[in-house]
Amino acid sequence: MSTRPADPADPASARGGDSGGPAARAADPASQGHVEVKAEGEVAVLTLRRERKRNALSTHLEAELLAALGSKLVRASRAVVLTGGESVFSAGADVTELRGMTPEAIAEYYRGTGAVYEAVAGLPQPTVAAITGYCLGGGLELALAADLRVADPAAVFGFPEVGLGILPSSGGVARLVRALGPARTRDLVLRGRRFTPEQAERWGLVTELAEPGQHLPRALAIARELAAAPPLAVALTKQVIDAAAESSHRTALLLEQLAYAALNRTQP
Ligand code: COA
Repeated sequence: MSTRPADPADPASARGGDSGGPAARAADPASQGHVEVKAEGEVAVLTLRRERKRNALSTHLEAELLAALGSKLVRASRAVVLTGGESVFSAGADVTELRGMTPEAIAEYYRGTGAVYEAVAGLPQPTVAAITGYCLGGGLELALAADLRVADPAAVFGFPEVGLGILPSSGGVARLVRALGPARTRDLVLRGRRFTPEQAERWGLVTELAEPGQHLPRALAIARELAAAPPLAVALTKQVIDAAAESSHRTALLLEQLAYAALNRTQP
C-alpha cells in the first residue's frame, strides 16, 4: 500500500471507490482523494489518506468517507475495515475548521458530513477499525463507531477536546460512558489525558492488541471471519446490541426474541 500523502493538486493522488471515480470527483469539487476504497475479497477496506495532516477529519474528508460508505463496493461487501494507514489513525477534527462556528453552522454540520460517525455505526456489515499512531478526538470517536478495534502497540489514544474549550460531540461521550461508565469517562474526557493501547484493551475499548505492525492484517483476518457469518443475522444482531444497550432488561429480551423469530425464517 502506498504511503504517499494525497495531494489535492495532484489528480493522480485522488482515490476512491465507484462513488469516488473520476466522474464523481469532477462532479464533487470537495473531493480531494483523502479516502481510499479497496476490496479485499468480501471485505471493504477504507483508508484515510491525509497523512500529511495526520488524517485530520476535515469536512472534505468526512464527505468522502460518507460517499465511500454509500459506494457500490462497500454496499456489496460483507465486512468493513476502517484504517488510517501505516503511521496514524487520525488526529481528530480539523481544528482549522472548528474556530468560530456558529450554533447554526454546527447544527448544519451534523445534518451534513458530521453524520459520518453515525453512518459508520449504522452500517449493517461488521466493522473493524485498525489503529496505529495518534487516534485522538474525532479520530477516536470514528474508531469507537466501529464494532471492533484492533490496535498496534504504537497507538496513542485521547480526547483533547475539553482542553480546547469544547467536548467530544460525535458520539464520543455517549459511547465512552456506555463502554466505561461515568467515572472513567470523567477521568479521560475532563483531563484529556492520553492512554495506551494496553490500557484501552484492559478497559475493553480495544478488542485486540496486535503485534507491532500487524494491526491491519489482524483487522483484516477478523473482518474475513465476520464476513463469513450470515449477513442478516449479523446485521440484526448489531441492531439488537445497540438497542439493548439503551433499553430495560425486559425490552432487550423482547427485542432478542423478536429478532430471533424473524431470523429463524431466513436462510443462514
Ligand atoms: N487539525 C488540523 N490539522 C492538524 C491536526 C488537526 N486535528 N492535527 C495535525 N494537524 C496538522 C498540523 O497542523 C501540521 O500541519 P502543517 O504541516 O501544515 O503545519 C501537520 O498536521 C502535522 O502535525 P504536527 O503537529 O507537526 O505532527 P506531530 O506528529 O508532531 O504531532 C499531533 C501530531 C496529533 C500530536 C498534533 O498534530 C496535535 O496535537 N494535533 C491536534 C490534535 C487535536 O487537538 N485533535 C482534536 C481536535 S478536536
